[in-house]
Amino acid sequence: MAASAADVARAYEDNKLAQVLYHDWESQTYDDKWSISFDERCTAYARDRFEAIVGELPQEPYGTALELGAGTGFFSLNLRQAGVLDEVHVTDLSPGMVEAARANAEKLGFTVEGRVADAERIPYDDNTFDVVVGHAVIHHIPDVEQALREVVRVLKPGGRFVIAGEPTRVGDWYARQLGRLTWKAATTVTQLPPLREKWAKDKGQLDESSRVAALEAVVDLHTFDPAELTRTALRAGAVDVRTHTEELTAALFGWPVRTFEAAVKPGALGWHWAMFAYGSWKRLSAVDRVLSRVVPEQLFYNVGLTGVKPA
Ligand SMILES: C[S@@+](CC[C@H](N)C(=O)[O-])C[C@H]1O[C@@H](n2cnc3c(N)ncnc32)[C@H](O)[C@@H]1O
Repeated sequence: MAASAADVARAYEDNKLAQVLYHDWESQTYDDKWSISFDERCTAYARDRFEAIVGELPQEPYGTALELGAGTGFFSLNLRQAGVLDEVHVTDLSPGMVEAARANAEKLGFTVEGRVADAERIPYDDNTFDVVVGHAVIHHIPDVEQALREVVRVLKPGGRFVIAGEPTRVGDWYARQLGRLTWKAATTVTQLPPLREKWAKDKGQLDESSRVAALEAVVDLHTFDPAELTRTALRAGAVDVRTHTEELTAALFGWPVRTFEAAVKPGALGWHWAMFAYGSWKRLSAVDRVLSRVVPEQLFYNVGLTGVKPA
């Protein structure tokens, strides 16, 4: 169901309600929107993000794992497929997302425990998990330090948390500028008569996209400076805290591409385009790994965070 104008108005009043409304609504189409799958492509992506942040993969899967803001299960279900996690518990503030993650796990042939939960008040006992993971979640949480304190509480002594895919302050700025320019250009050019029929979204679809963009601005609460994020995790009680940044040219390419995909008629671009976009993103990510030796970390788009509960 699409977000109505009244929904958007209510969401401005109450941020947690906005999160539930937006993500419940998104849960139906989330995997398509973000090209999420549970095959080798996304399993390798999840495993590589985990390894890049932690520095190595575990010899054995972590026994009990919790994911915060799991969405449809992209990170933890793929990490389980990659042999990084064993018993997975998914949590999310949005009931629709928890349902979607459970359904995805079932399709993959395993069951996960799913709970609707606010990361600022995790409904599990102290010292429960060997690892806590999250992907693209803490930028939605009002009190990040409180959420990390909760993460440390539910971890067993010596347990690790791994949070991937959060926007840096600088990266978010350039991604949004590029997104805005691409949106304006694509929606203007596709309205030209020779292109309109094949490429243009109709007015209803464009109005809905604008409402979604308005809600997105409400639910995206933070961007992060890596050094500041490290200090937040240390204040929350973690030790051995590290950040890792990635995606520079890949983000400069990827955000306009993603915006273009959202700006044209659904289905107009096809499979060849999807392969071109993914292939280019992968090649540019390889360039970024080389650049990371010389470019300051805060200029990259994504930041990941890891830390350990004191033994
Ligand atoms: C951008 S989505 C990411 C979903 C998934 N981790 C992924 O990478 O595909 C952010 C998720 O965080 C959830 N979320 C937002 N605020 C939350 C909170 N306070 N506690 C737990 N989850 C929250 C949303 O419902 C949404 O599913």
